[in-house]
Amino acid sequence: MIPPRLIFKKGTLKILDQRLLPDRIAYVTARGAAQTAANITNMALRGAPLIGCAAAYGFALEMRRLKPVSGEALARAARKTAALLKAARPTAVALFYAADRMLNKALALSAANPDKFAPAALDKILNTIDREAGLLASEDEAACLAMGKYGAALLPKSCVIMTHCNAGALATMGIGTAVGVITTAHKLGKVKHAYSCETRPYLQGARLTIWELMREGVPSELITDNMAAHIIKTAGVNAIVVGADRIAANGDTANKIGTYGLAILARYHKIPFYVAVPTPTVDLAARGGEDIVIEERSTREVTHIKNVCIAPKGVKVRHPAFDVTPANLITAIITERGVIAPVTRASVKKHLSL
Ligand code: MRU
Repeated sequence: MIPPRLIFKKGTLKILDQRLLPDRIAYVTARGAAQTAANITNMALRGAPLIGCAAAYGFALEMRRLKPVSGEALARAARKTAALLKAARPTAVALFYAADRMLNKALALSAANPDKFAPAALDKILNTIDREAGLLASEDEAACLAMGKYGAALLPKSCVIMTHCNAGALATMGIGTAVGVITTAHKLGKVKHAYSCETRPYLQGARLTIWELMREGVPSELITDNMAAHIIKTAGVNAIVVGADRIAANGDTANKIGTYGLAILARYHKIPFYVAVPTPTVDLAARGGEDIVIEERSTREVTHIKNVCIAPKGVKVRHPAFDVTPANLITAIITERGVIAPVTRASVKKHLSL
């Protein structure tokens, strides 16, 4: 079992500190939106769906902390809180989806209760906001199970599968997206072997994904990112499955840096390349991949591993944390509603209207 990622109790959010994994299981506590946002920015928690769920809880914490006295005060606090949370990281649209959904809930409550709140009314409003955050988390959990089922059905028997970054339980409130597909297929006896790419520079694959696969008893090996082509060619890899942070309306997909390269390898080796995501990952406001903001993270994450510098002092460094895989390299997108294939603007639109 993977330890709980978020534990929300009125007034506090305990966050599994993923920076310490796999060495230590420890939690940090957030008591408001600013602390929640800081823990998203500093990567104590990461992974698109989990970022969204944490933001929803952070929003609920903040309303409880501020105790707005009227509908107007609630609307003001809600707008400010949503903006603060959205600034935590730029690429995962789950963060924006969650912040907007909580904001809309709060604005509806504010419109329905325009006057000064009586203590019992405030209590009811805060409980409703807490429940909305809980709903978002349980929707994510259910979506993971459905994606696992749809994704596992796509895989052949004795599948040798590769994944990148961490799109597992640690990135969600459930069994994960891409890793959920692998563990579900494993339970059905379909997985011969799984490979986790280490995912330089932040090592989500080495620290998190392989740890999850080992805990779930999936026969698996860790490889460095530059081994991927060789392993695909020589180890009989017959599918690649990854998660995503944002999918544009035409199916172009932003995911952890290195994903694009794997999609090109999959095309060259004629193996399917799957992306597993909950539907809120599709951002219809982004027409294509060029509209997706790619986060540039600290260069220290490239030059240092566990606080040890591995590059010359004064070196110039780039650190784009995500890349965009063009839709035409993606065999199918797996969501909680089913499978999008082929991946085109029209098929994405049709799927979202299901
Ligand atoms: O920088 P991270 O660790 O938040 O990046 C995570 C990823 O790129 C995941 O593949 C993506 O969020 C999907 S998680 C189900």
